[in-house]
Amino acid sequence: MTADLQHVRRAAATGNEMSGRIEVHGVSKWFATKGGEHVHALDSIGFTVEPGEFVSIIGPSGCGKSTLLRIVHGLVGAEAGEVLVGGKPVTGPSPSGAMVFQSVNLYPWRTTRRNVEFGLEMRGVGRDERRATADRLLEMIGLQSFADAYPSQLSGGMQQRVGLARALAVDPTLLYMDEPFGALDAQTKVVLQGELALIVEQFKKTVLFVTHDMEEAVFLSDRVLVMSNRPGQILEDITVDLPRPRADDVRRSPEFVRLKDHVWELLRGEQHAE
Ligand SMILES: Nc1ncnc2c1ncn2[C@@H]1O[C@H](COP(=O)(O)OP(=O)(O)OP(=O)(O)O)[C@@H](O)[C@H]1O
Ligand SMILES: [Mg+2]
Repeated sequence: MTADLQHVRRAAATGNEMSGRIEVHGVSKWFATKGGEHVHALDSIGFTVEPGEFVSIIGPSGCGKSTLLRIVHGLVGAEAGEVLVGGKPVTGPSPSGAMVFQSVNLYPWRTTRRNVEFGLEMRGVGRDERRATADRLLEMIGLQSFADAYPSQLSGGMQQRVGLARALAVDPTLLYMDEPFGALDAQTKVVLQGELALIVEQFKKTVLFVTHDMEEAVFLSDRVLVMSNRPGQILEDITVDLPRPRADDVRRSPEFVRLKDHVWELLRGEQHAE
């Protein structure tokens, strides 16, 4: 790690003491459909994420995972319940959080570097500082030689790395990630999971991570929240007590396999429920 990164890490860790805490209390959500019906998406969801914790949400398709993430980030409201981030009620998107989506949505007319700089530009950060931050992050994700390339010239895995760098550039306390590796091939996925594990261990961000992938959830997380079919409820809050830093060989440890099997048992129960 460069001295620069160590500095960023220390600053993030101290600033995180309280501000990175997420509390979700009794959150329920309904959507109105065109036919005047209501879809009950989430039912009395409650959990807490401590500062610096990595928590995954896994559950059947349509159970409300993305909706929950959007509510926590303040992109949509809930019909009941409350979300607190850093002890304050969430009423809209806050600059302390950054979202990474499955479809990266890089700006096609901007180079890699200028995509990473985007959030800093919006905050009025000067050109030299923006560039220094972007170049440091591009080096970290191994894409410095693609700084002047456009998104269309990058592979899916590279684009996802740039999306992550763009989110990290504004030094958010919280990272919200919605199936960021869902569209990638198996090999690229494993590589990016390893990189993400290292990055979050370095930067000590609070991460709420939505995934369909049981192995990914166990590998990355301190806790895995398993959700039921719609209306989504939390079936179990599983603690992943595997040592960090985690390297690929942890995937073969008996405890890893046991945890993955346990998540599968819970999800399999939901497959039969509908
Ligand atoms: N804007 C919306 N308007 C109406 N219904 C919606 C809206 N957003 C989500 N829903 C419904 O709410 C439910 C939960 O959707 P959500 O996208 O949160 O599920 P998910 O768990 O993320 O699914 P997936 O795993 O397929 O991504 C679904 O039935 C969906 O159709
Ligand atoms: Mg979703």
